[in-house]
Amino acid sequence: MTPQIGHPPQPARGPLLFRDIDTLDLVSIDVYRRGGGYETLGAVLAAKSPEECIEIVKASGLRGRGGAGFPTGLKWSFVPKGSAKPRYLVCNADESEPGTFKDRELMEKNPHLMIEGMVLSAFAFGANTGYIYLRGEFEYIQRILDRAIEEARAAGLVGDSVAGSSFRFQLHTHLGAGAYICGEETALLSSLEGYRGQPRLKPPFPAVEGLYACPTIVNNVETLMNVPHILRHGAQWFRQWGTEKSPGTKVFSVSGPVRRPGNVEVPMGLPLSRLLDEHCGGMREGFRVKAVIPGGSSVPLLPASMLDTGLDFESMAAAGTLLGSGGVIVIDDQTCIVDALYNITRFYEHESCGKCTPCREGTYWMSEIFERLESGHGRERDIDLLADISDNILGKSFCALGDAAAMPVLGAIKHFREEFEYHVRMKRCMVNRRRAEIAERAAETVGA
Ligand SMILES: Cc1cc2nc3c(=O)[nH]c(=O)nc-3n(C[C@H](O)[C@H](O)[C@H](O)COP(=O)(O)O)c2cc1C
Ligand code: SF4
Repeated sequence: MTPQIGHPPQPARGPLLFRDIDTLDLVSIDVYRRGGGYETLGAVLAAKSPEECIEIVKASGLRGRGGAGFPTGLKWSFVPKGSAKPRYLVCNADESEPGTFKDRELMEKNPHLMIEGMVLSAFAFGANTGYIYLRGEFEYIQRILDRAIEEARAAGLVGDSVAGSSFRFQLHTHLGAGAYICGEETALLSSLEGYRGQPRLKPPFPAVEGLYACPTIVNNVETLMNVPHILRHGAQWFRQWGTEKSPGTKVFSVSGPVRRPGNVEVPMGLPLSRLLDEHCGGMREGFRVKAVIPGGSSVPLLPASMLDTGLDFESMAAAGTLLGSGGVIVIDDQTCIVDALYNITRFYEHESCGKCTPCREGTYWMSEIFERLESGHGRERDIDLLADISDNILGKSFCALGDAAAMPVLGAIKHFREEFEYHVRMKRCMVNRRRAEIAERAAETVGA
């Protein structure tokens, strides 16, 4: 490739999906192809059967990167065989989880990898139509993707005869209206059909009855981008990273007062402390870690004493939290936990779609209690009441948004109950007290 004046080569930012991400003009099909892009598509369509593709993805152990971690190959194998109904592939590019911004960078910078991943995945389970469902704010990414799809169509890699084969695949983008619930796969499908974005009863699962009541696979952006690499290099190659049950790499979106926030791709299983220290440069001067929310705002936080927990599905579960979408939110020692959770709870109250009572009413009552605690009107029994309401939402709501609202609050009460109690007792927050102490000490030092 011709060296670009003024654009020195950047060091690789990850072993797999982020390896080439900063290549200049990677959005163009020519640059993508120069790096070997679309070679896998041609090779697979010429030499492999759909069943073989599913088996390879199953053997790789790839698990969904959208939050739930469901095995991808297994999900594809649930599509009923022999049905005359059309099948659909839907890419979940809603990315509304607070603290998560990985899919955005992946699509912005490497749209052709996603298109190649979608064509290969569709081939594996026999879909001839694909949709990319983008959150409303991603209008500019829609333009990038539409341009890339046109390039792929002109090159014969999307359309009636993909790479000269008998496989046909049409691909479209769709912009949502900016509702968090539309990231939930069944609400997403309702929204795509033109209805109000509200979840549907499961089962039937989308793989059996999804878009227009036809078999549909919904996969996350990052999940689909792993597929070309796996089909190119094989299942064992993919397993060189990660753990036995959580193989591969994962992109984490790191935010908070670390020296180098942003997206980082690391092998699954890496201890959280190493992600923060080695890849994000540690904490900025004057800040210490108080807690970390490891998987987007929907999951329970981990206190600083648990930073050695591995970034994989099993280790996170054993520590009482979830890997989720990989949105790592670092909470520093100058942040009040009650205030942070109030902020998160208001988000869920606002985004609750209102379909079921525990979530609709519960998130409202949780917000009310937080407001009382914050304003210095908290009562002794409010902490247990908050936990009780959360308990009544958890596992009793129609979809996982209810759990997402309840789990972080229960985690915060478990690990930081003293901060809640301080709010009730002292009518103000503990951190403000610390801030006042620091200011007092600073004044004394200056005075001396
Ligand atoms: C409230 C809610 C919001 C969600 N938002 C997203 C999202 O923005 N992106 C995503 O990929 N999955 C999201 N999910 C998970 C999807 O329902 C689904 O599990 C995922 O898209 C499946 O893809 P995967 O198997 O590749 O992970 C959300 C789930 C819930 C309950
Ligand atoms: S849990 Fe919340 S978001 Fe999900 S269906 Fe019930 S009200 Fe709607």
